[in-house]
Amino acid sequence: MKNILIVGASNHGKVIADIVMKEERYKVVGFLDSQKEPGTIIAKVPVLGCEEDLKKIKTAHNIYGIIIGIGLNHVRESVYEKIREYCPEIVFVTAIHPSASIASEVYIGEGTVIMSGVSVNTQSSIGRFCIINTNASVDHDNKIGDFASLAPGVVTGGNVKVGRMSAVSLGANIIHGRSIGEHTVIGAGATVLKDIPESVVAYGTPAKVVRKREYNEPYL
Ligand SMILES: CC(C)(COP(=O)(O)OP(=O)(O)OC[C@H]1O[C@@H](n2cnc3c(N)ncnc32)[C@H](O)[C@@H]1OP(=O)(O)O)[C@@H](O)C(=O)NCCC(=O)NCCS
Repeated sequence: MKNILIVGASNHGKVIADIVMKEERYKVVGFLDSQKEPGTIIAKVPVLGCEEDLKKIKTAHNIYGIIIGIGLNHVRESVYEKIREYCPEIVFVTAIHPSASIASEVYIGEGTVIMSGVSVNTQSSIGRFCIINTNASVDHDNKIGDFASLAPGVVTGGNVKVGRMSAVSLGANIIHGRSIGEHTVIGAGATVLKDIPESVVAYGTPAKVVRKREYNEPYL
């Protein structure tokens, strides 16, 4: 098995470590996290240092690849850019829980994490560095943009588009054929019946735009 690191030793990082262990494609040899002391053990895996130490740690531990274990979409993107700068040759691998059901002709981009119980139906495309969280259901012909996230229990109908960096929150439903713009947050429990534009927060049943949002506003 090839060795990998997880960047971010938070709860999200811990869940990813568990998926990788169950998947048995890679071995997680450590976390990188600037806010935790090197040597701290999280879920039996040590923190080895921070992003700045990547090059050194890569050589010392024969590291093949990385997963960015950071939940907030804009933070995940900025960490990605930093890592690219420190170590341009590193490979970004995916983590797909063995209980996930991925249909044929589904594309899954580099760095994406797919959690337990997820279903992705045929001819859907999940972009790079996405999070498809526990028990989310993505129907056929969806297009989920890079750095976007679907929270636990999200359900999308067929032909749905979710824009780059957008977050669909816990248990939200999006009916078939609707589009969510980039950098938008769909609130928990929303039912999306109409297209939702970019850079807004929308929630409710039916979902309505409640305000504009900056791309780096937290939502978790
Ligand atoms: C949409 C969201 C980001 C909050 O947006 P916000 O603008 O900061 O909202 P606030 O918390 O300030 O609440 C403002 C009002 O909107 C209401 N509201 C907030 N989110 C709502 C939602 N999803 N559905 C219905 N009403 C909502 C609040 O009850 C509050 O109403 P009040 O003024 O009558 O008390 C948040 O509700 C949400 O859904 N977060 C995602 C959580 C999640 O999915 N976590 C997953 C972890 S994996």
